[in-house]
Amino acid sequence: MKSFFTNKPLFKIAAAAILVLPFGNTMAQTQSNVNMNAFISGLMKKMTVDEKIGQLNLVTSGMAITGSVTNNGVDNGIAKGQIGGIFGLYGVENVRKAQELAVKNSRLHIPLIFGLDVIHGHRTIFPIPLGMSTTWDLDIIQKSARIAAKEATAEGLNWVFSPMVDIARDARWGRISEGSGEDPWLGGKIAGAMVKGYQGTSLKNADAVMACVKHFALYGGAEAGREYNTVDMSRLQMYQDYLPPYRAAVDAGAGSIMSSFNTVDGIPSTGNKWLLTDLLRKQWGFKGFVVSDYTSLSEMSNHGLGDLSQVSALALKAGLDMDMVAEGFLSTLKKSLQQGKVTQAEIDLACRRVLEAKYKLGLFDNPYKSLNAENEKKDVFTEENRKAARLAAEHSFVLLKNANQILPLKKSGGTIAVVGPLADNKRDMLGTWVIAGEWEKSVSVLEGIKHVVGDNVKLIYAKGANITDDTEFMKRLNFGPGMVSLDSRSPEDMIEEAVKAAKKADIVVAVVGESQSMSGESSSRSDIDVPESQKKMLKALAKLGKPMVIVLFNGRPLTLTWENENAAAILDVWAPGTEAGNAIAEVLFGNYNPSGKLTATFPRTVGQIPIYYNHKNTGRPYTDGPTKFKSNYLDISNDPLFPFGYGLSYTSFGYSDVKLSKTNLKGAETLTATVTVTNKGTYAGEEVVQLYISDPVASISRSVKELKGFQKINLQAGEAKEVSFTITPELLKFYNSQLKYDWEPGEFIIQIGTNSADTHNAKVKWLK
Ligand code: NOJ
Repeated sequence: MKSFFTNKPLFKIAAAAILVLPFGNTMAQTQSNVNMNAFISGLMKKMTVDEKIGQLNLVTSGMAITGSVTNNGVDNGIAKGQIGGIFGLYGVENVRKAQELAVKNSRLHIPLIFGLDVIHGHRTIFPIPLGMSTTWDLDIIQKSARIAAKEATAEGLNWVFSPMVDIARDARWGRISEGSGEDPWLGGKIAGAMVKGYQGTSLKNADAVMACVKHFALYGGAEAGREYNTVDMSRLQMYQDYLPPYRAAVDAGAGSIMSSFNTVDGIPSTGNKWLLTDLLRKQWGFKGFVVSDYTSLSEMSNHGLGDLSQVSALALKAGLDMDMVAEGFLSTLKKSLQQGKVTQAEIDLACRRVLEAKYKLGLFDNPYKSLNAENEKKDVFTEENRKAARLAAEHSFVLLKNANQILPLKKSGGTIAVVGPLADNKRDMLGTWVIAGEWEKSVSVLEGIKHVVGDNVKLIYAKGANITDDTEFMKRLNFGPGMVSLDSRSPEDMIEEAVKAAKKADIVVAVVGESQSMSGESSSRSDIDVPESQKKMLKALAKLGKPMVIVLFNGRPLTLTWENENAAAILDVWAPGTEAGNAIAEVLFGNYNPSGKLTATFPRTVGQIPIYYNHKNTGRPYTDGPTKFKSNYLDISNDPLFPFGYGLSYTSFGYSDVKLSKTNLKGAETLTATVTVTNKGTYAGEEVVQLYISDPVASISRSVKELKGFQKINLQAGEAKEVSFTITPELLKFYNSQLKYDWEPGEFIIQIGTNSADTHNAKVKWLK
């Protein structure tokens, strides 16, 4: 048979429920588990050891390349029952061919599971996850995952490698773009919303995909922000600050979880029994299956844990069920079984979990359940999906500065110079993970502006700079063809052109920042400034003294001290996705008033990293500026440039003092904390009202404050609203030095405000 797997990648990356039954329906749940167990036991009785091991083998198709190694002989392997799933293959015809091979040609006709890195949309691309998180809007986030699931299933997929829920406190790490920032509580809420969006009401539905939560665990804690680097942290920090989002995703019913590349307590996650079995299954009750990350199984050898046979046995015993790409299970487990290094029961358990996932997805009932060529045509990249992506993008933008209310811009009259390498650019609109996203179909900023202002404003465009002039850097960015290129003109000529355009204009809109491949996997940066070539252009423009609005593209917090001092306004748009230009123009011209708030702290300089709002006090806390013998730097303040939770609006919001329903509480009582928020400006707008709690005296040193709630409200100009938060002892809990999750009596400071550094505070005493 001729292989349909292409060796030529159609390149593209830049890079449950478990049955959800009505709450309380335990009988039905149990019955469905009984049926599933009986079915799988029956099937497994017929399976040879080789076939069982085959189910543990996940291969990449070669259609989309997301790592440096690929698998060969895939179609042959399917027919021989040596493959349990494929990822990186999509499209109804492609998937059908592979599924038919498994169902018709393999001895036991076991269907394959089809996965893909659907991370922020499938065909219709939404903002990068960091941008989705700055919406602080769980409905928008859940809906984006639902749409991605519908589009992915329309192209034959049933499993997505998302959500990525790794907490990140280091903006050098390129994958900060793929997560929800630095806060574990918010990260948990977002993780839950994503899982629900992907998996829908039942995994058996034709438009449901199984979520794969990643990267378990602590991947975002990589030392020095360097990709794939060592992670080493205390158990207390794990439990308190890094593990909660994974737990929240498990609690939301995620069907699968991906192990991470890093070590946890010195043992690679992929072979870490404490992590994969004791914590995940015994403590958290996870019932799905665990897949390794791309060759993370064989990489355990580089971590120093032994040869492929040794690490494969170790990983199986630790609780890994499926091996992505490494073929360590496939090539060594049978021999290890014969040698007594692994047991039949261990192989059976992993095999059962993989088969259970297929059963939960309804693939044994209908292996072709999502393979409908009609849906493939009509359900992807629809007008409705694009509208949802535009809405998400508008809500994700964070207004970092707006001096003299320069924004919104007027929709008629005057001249605007639109300059910068990201202005007339479609390619870099989409962001890091866009395997099936077609950048050619995205809307550039220039196009978006034209859609909104038509001929009513005179526009002069100039590219002004290359993304980067550094050809060595460029080579690394170009891991896909033509991602970044040099203009045929000299940098000086390009700047000159931008300056000329700006001279003729009333306002300059400079569209600058990071291109697609500057963030995401394997894209750590030690310098997180706007690239030098673009900064030179900005500096030349700033000299003209014209008001300059920066539209900033970025997959991570950047160091923006110069930009903050020299631009009139900065609108952070991350990488907004398919509808980038339209969404940006809607916001620039005031059709939508920005409401995004940062979920990751923006440092002043890279030297402040790691920097995050929920830090500890230290014994010598910093107060107001560098002081001798305090915990600070000689040369810079400890404060970030923009704190967690920060984001401006075209209007301004006033906060009253915090009113508490009680100031002395006992036991399980409930506290209500209320503020009145007033829209003091002339535009209607949305505000994310944030609740933080501090616990100044405890048995361990606590974070200075922790986010414990938020509400996004809409206020007309001049309108005021009371916003109340209900606080129960649950919100006061933390992990103590025995890793016991509980609260301790004493004083608490309830803080409500517009960002983590600007709150109104009130004290309560809460006794047990
Ligand atoms: C490696 C990445 O770390 C992971 O997030 C991704 O899902 C896999 N490659 C598959 O592409």
